[in-house]
Amino acid sequence: MIQKYVFGKPIETGAVVQEIPETKSEILVMNQNVMEDKVVLFCKMEEEDIIYGLGEQVRGINKRGFSYISDATDDPIHTEGKHSLYGAHNFLIVNGRKIFGIFVDNPGKVVFDVGETSMETLTITTGKDCVIYIIEGESLKEVVKQFRQLIGRSYIAPKWAFGYQQSRWGYENEKDIREVVSGYQENGIPLEAVYLDIDYMEGYKDFTVDKEKFPKFSEFVEELKEQQIHLVPIIDAGVKVEEGYSIYEEGIANDYFCKDEEGENFTAAVWPGKVHFPDVLNAKAREWFGGKYRYLMEQGIDGFWNDMNEPAIFYSEKNLKKVIEEISAMKDKNLDIHSFFYLKDLVCSLSNSSKDYASFYHNMNGRKICHKDVHNLYGFYMTKAAAKAFEKIDPEKRVLLFSRSSYIGMHRYGGIWTGDNHAWWQQLLMSIQQMPSLNMCGILYTGSDIGGFGGDTTKDLLLRWLEFGIFTPLMRNHSAAGTRKQEVYQFGDTTDFRNIIRIRYALIPYLYSEFMKAALEDEMYFRPLAFDYPEDKQAKRVEDQLMVGESIMIAPVYTQNAVGRYVYLPEEMLMVCMTSPEEKRFEVLEKGHHYISVSLNEVVFFVKKNHVLLLAALNEKVKTTADLEQASYEWIGYVPEKAEYLFYQDDGISKKYLSKKNWKVCKFTKEDFSNGYLKKEN
Ligand code: GLC
Repeated sequence: MIQKYVFGKPIETGAVVQEIPETKSEILVMNQNVMEDKVVLFCKMEEEDIIYGLGEQVRGINKRGFSYISDATDDPIHTEGKHSLYGAHNFLIVNGRKIFGIFVDNPGKVVFDVGETSMETLTITTGKDCVIYIIEGESLKEVVKQFRQLIGRSYIAPKWAFGYQQSRWGYENEKDIREVVSGYQENGIPLEAVYLDIDYMEGYKDFTVDKEKFPKFSEFVEELKEQQIHLVPIIDAGVKVEEGYSIYEEGIANDYFCKDEEGENFTAAVWPGKVHFPDVLNAKAREWFGGKYRYLMEQGIDGFWNDMNEPAIFYSEKNLKKVIEEISAMKDKNLDIHSFFYLKDLVCSLSNSSKDYASFYHNMNGRKICHKDVHNLYGFYMTKAAAKAFEKIDPEKRVLLFSRSSYIGMHRYGGIWTGDNHAWWQQLLMSIQQMPSLNMCGILYTGSDIGGFGGDTTKDLLLRWLEFGIFTPLMRNHSAAGTRKQEVYQFGDTTDFRNIIRIRYALIPYLYSEFMKAALEDEMYFRPLAFDYPEDKQAKRVEDQLMVGESIMIAPVYTQNAVGRYVYLPEEMLMVCMTSPEEKRFEVLEKGHHYISVSLNEVVFFVKKNHVLLLAALNEKVKTTADLEQASYEWIGYVPEKAEYLFYQDDGISKKYLSKKNWKVCKFTKEDFSNGYLKKEN
């Protein structure tokens, strides 16, 4: 049951797709305090209550014990004291005596104090104009399903985007890209896509390609396509201010950029220096900006990542002027403790400043709206601009699209990656914990920068991260300029990397099937254990294991120098240990706590009782997802009685998801696995 409560005059965010009649009475499950400028909701949490949700945020799966602020921000240091990352996912679930979800549809700042100020109290503070949805259900799964129906079907990526992808900030030109491709090919490691970071553009100008670096771009795209490798360019939010640059000039001529208080185009600076931001909240400007993706699509591009769309601001023209004046006034002064730290803060405060966000405006259907009141929508609408354009350009084709910043509702148009993490072990754990929280909010096509974006990675961290990353729909190794090279062939012998990435390809029939089911049935692909074992008090407390699809549970190793880990089994399960698609070891483990050994080159997962999963039986020829079509299958099953599996398979590129021929019911009995746990498909 969903109840909708309207406060003040909310802005239409586009998060919700279902019409729900407004409930006029007070919210029953939470207390409320409606003030002049804000709405505060609060409720008491019992000691055993667990709070799930909030999507892309720091800390654990259970969000209790901290405050989280929805305020999209470009901050590359994702340590546990941070309150905001790039996304704003205002949905949480209270798992207490009652199970209910809360979605706060407000695109400005929203604060979720989940027992930080007082351990027993959940307090949500939002701007006065908002819609609040309360979703009650019998179970966690049911609450999520209702919420997901409310916000609409998740974005579905093309099947090739489930392959292994390589990225790095710093691939400058054709030669660099070719080197990456041959690095993988020479080592027999599957590779599906290489990313173009900002270096491919001419002077960091959107929708341009540097002709010196890529003299024949479309031919180059084609050359890679022949090897089934996709090139995925980045698109940034800011449009460079430069006379003669057509996007800039069109934007100016048609008034498509955000305005400052005086009605002038708001000028900030990002990679290219001064930029204007396309007013993606304005329908006309959005259509115009989206249309620009065509330039790259016409050259064969079929995947994009949208970046810097919080929008990130290095500095604004006005703010910089003020700061420079203040600093000039300090010249030759004897700076004491106060003035010195003031100076330091002054320079840092230039970037992503809330003052700047309060100083520019959108034109939303003729209504002038201050950016700060809709701040969290920018990434969503930039991504919507692209997705809507793709629908026009090639209506039947799936295009890869994901974004850094997002708001609930954007999940219908693209996925996200979790931004600029670090090559730290802790960030691997954080990525594991973010996945189910993102899934609750509809964001299914997601993953983190494998190996870590900032800082120098190490071979063991990259191996462990890949061992988890083979389960994330987006499996991309990405790193920052200036860090240690992070392609898997940079670490000496590539055998272990090859085997792990090949295991991903072997798993794709299962992972893709499960992803599609989650998307089409409004369910979660990654789930905390409590979602499947609600009666199990110990399962409820597990923070570092996940259910993946209907058949398996994973328990990734995420600590340095570990040779294994403790795992909790909520029921008897079959442990599968793989060092390559061909080498598998099986062991049935009983319910309870176990210490399991997991060597550095090993992938371990657990199959539920009377469940199966299917694997592609790879041969050496399988280099990309397209080659999987020819592979035969084998089933891993733990079937003491019988099992049924709904196998989903499609052409991977069109949108005919619901066609009957995509679905196959596969039935198994104990006899099918009488020789053990493997059954080859003929
Ligand atoms: C941002 C992105 C990162 C990218 C870099 C350069 O930091 O998050 O992924 O590599 O910009 O474009």
